[in-house]
Amino acid sequence: MANKSAEIPGLAIHITSLKKRHGDREILRGVDLRIHPGQTVALIGPSGGGKTTLLRCLNGLEVFDHGSVRVGDCTLNALSGQSIEIARIRRSLGMIFQDFQLFPHLTVLENVAAAPIWVLGENAKEARDRSIHLLDRVKLSEFSNRKPMQLSGGQKQRVAIARALALKPLGLLCDEITSALDPETKHEVLAVLEDLKRDGLTVIMVTHEIGFAKRAADRVVLLAEGNIAEEGTAAEVIDSPKTERACKFLARVLG
Ligand SMILES: Nc1ncnc2c1ncn2[C@@H]1O[C@H](COP(=O)(O)OP(=O)(O)OP(=O)(O)O)[C@@H](O)[C@H]1O
Ligand SMILES: [Mg+2]
Repeated sequence: MANKSAEIPGLAIHITSLKKRHGDREILRGVDLRIHPGQTVALIGPSGGGKTTLLRCLNGLEVFDHGSVRVGDCTLNALSGQSIEIARIRRSLGMIFQDFQLFPHLTVLENVAAAPIWVLGENAKEARDRSIHLLDRVKLSEFSNRKPMQLSGGQKQRVAIARALALKPLGLLCDEITSALDPETKHEVLAVLEDLKRDGLTVIMVTHEIGFAKRAADRVVLLAEGNIAEEGTAAEVIDSPKTERACKFLARVLG
C-alpha cells in the first residue's frame, strides 16, 4: 500500500521570538516554537493567554511587532504586510474556526467544491469528484445535497474540515473547533482529526479537550499570559507538569 505521508509531506513551522502588542498590552511576549512536519500539536492554556493571536500571526491575519514566522519555505517578518508570502502561506495552511463559516446558500457539496474552483482553478467536474471523496472521508456522503442549516453542529464542522482539505493544504490551524459542540458530536469531529494524522498534515489545534491532546497530539504546548509556560509530550505536560503555571491551569481544567 502506498505510504500516504510520503505523498503529502507536512509543513515545518518555526516561530522565533514572536511578540505581538495590542495598544499598550503585550499579548505574545517572545514565543519560540519549532513544529516538525506532520506533527499534531495541541495548544492549550487559559482564556486570554494568546492562543488565537498566535494562530492568527501564523497565517498573516495579524501583523506582529517582533520576531519571525516561517511556514514551509515562506517567512513572515515583524511589522510587514508581505501579501505574496501571506497568500502562499494561506494556500498551504488551512484554518478552521469554532463557528464553521460555511456559505449558507450553498449545499454541502457546493461548499466543499467552491474553493478548489475559485482558488485552485480546478474544473467543476474535478472539484466535484474530489469533494465527493472528501465528504465520504468525513462520513457525510449522504448529506451532500443538504444546506448547512439542515445539519448538526458536528456535521457542519466536518463540512468545514472537508472544505479546508479541498485546498490540499499541508497543514491545518484549528481554533477551538469543538467548543460549541455537545460531547457526542465533538467525538465525531475529533475522530476525523485523528484520522488526518495518517496523511502527514501538520496540525496545530487550540483545544480544551485534554483527552484528545493525550490521544492524538505529538506535542502539547501550554501558552499562558503570552509565554510558553511548558511544552512536551502529553505525558510530560499533562501527566507530570513541572511548572507552577501548568499545574495551576491543569488543576482547573481537569477539575
Ligand atoms: N484586536 C484586539 N484588540 C485588543 N486586544 C485584543 C485583540 N485581540 C485579542 N486581544 C487581547 O489579546 C489577549 C489574547 O487574546 P486571544 O484571543 O489570543 O486569547 P486566547 O488564548 O485565544 O483566549 P480564549 O481561550 O478565550 O480564546 C486577550 O487579552 C484579548 O483581549
Ligand atoms: Mg481563542
